[in-house]
Amino acid sequence: MANRKIITGIKPTGSIHLGNYFGTIRQIVDLQDSGEMFVFLADLHALTGCSDADSRHDSNLFEKYSHDVIRAYVALGVDPKKTVIYRQSEFPQITELTWIFSCLLKHQFLTIGHAYKDALQQEKEPGLGVFLYPVLMAADILLLGANTVPVGKDQVQHVEMAREIARKFNMLTETRYFSEPQEQVVKETAVVPGIDGRKMSKSYDNVLPIFADETEIRKRIMGITTDSTPAGQPIRPDNCTICSYLELLLSREKYGDVANKCLHGKISYKELKEMLVDAYLDYFKDARETYAKLENNSSYIDRLLGQHRKKMDTLFTDRLNEVRRMLGLGIPHKQKWFR
Ligand code: ADP
Ligand code: TRP
Repeated sequence: MANRKIITGIKPTGSIHLGNYFGTIRQIVDLQDSGEMFVFLADLHALTGCSDADSRHDSNLFEKYSHDVIRAYVALGVDPKKTVIYRQSEFPQITELTWIFSCLLKHQFLTIGHAYKDALQQEKEPGLGVFLYPVLMAADILLLGANTVPVGKDQVQHVEMAREIARKFNMLTETRYFSEPQEQVVKETAVVPGIDGRKMSKSYDNVLPIFADETEIRKRIMGITTDSTPAGQPIRPDNCTICSYLELLLSREKYGDVANKCLHGKISYKELKEMLVDAYLDYFKDARETYAKLENNSSYIDRLLGQHRKKMDTLFTDRLNEVRRMLGLGIPHKQKWFR
């Protein structure tokens, strides 16, 4: 697609994990040459946890996680020469558009948001940030004018809502200003399971972190929940979390061998776990080295974020000014009445 714009973001809420990599980062790396690529740190989205009654905000940890997301992007192959990397909270244009979009929407529309529904289901009072989360995400996508959004399955609903918001705005203004973005989900890795069998997520503490030290990774892998199949009995690869990880990390041929051994009772869960530790550390060897090198290199991260700041600021300002114009809000500092 000519002028294809691709966007995605990750929240600084914990360690980057296998689900983040296979759900989105690997797609970014694969798509870097097929359009203009924009990846960002979704730090404003990460604040939505602050409304929990017992939450305390640790700003140092927040900064650390933010730094970690950016260096993880780079370590895992996002190439700053091809891809624009930016920090969401640096651009107030996005939050202004979030307010404008909020005014177009009914309360009911946002009650379908899965994070909002989850909070209600857990009998928690949902925070306003959680409620408005999909609107901020729509602003991220639509302000840029992105057409493609590579994400895991959990984000598909948000992209659908962004499409709906684009339609509402276009109808309101009788324009076709916002094009409708499409999610891009890789079927095989749309939902990477966590070590407890639920979806892998930073919020469930069930992740395989990519950049933790070896002892931690080993501990987590050896602690993966399995059924009670005794050694010597067949294991069904399609029903085994360890196998699903091995399938992602090994070549097709090597994984075929492992699956065969499972089916014939020739390998135990313990052996599978040992194999997974090796495959995991081998697969992420280079990335882990680069990530370690960037640990104390915040000036590199600063330079990286500075590289496209001006360009993004201009792009966002221009697009927001168009929106302001369409709504009769005027352009800040350049008021011209009744043009
Ligand atoms: P988390 O759920 O761990 O907090 P984020 O919400 O920051 O992760 O997700 C960042 C990106 O990684 C999103 O595109 C999301 O869809 C993807 N992702 C997160 N967890 C998984 C998973 N278990 N499987 C596939 N993709 C995932
Ligand atoms: N909500 C996404 C997540 O939790 C992060 C995100 C924020 C995002 N804005 C986005 C992803 C825009 C893609 C496009 O994973």
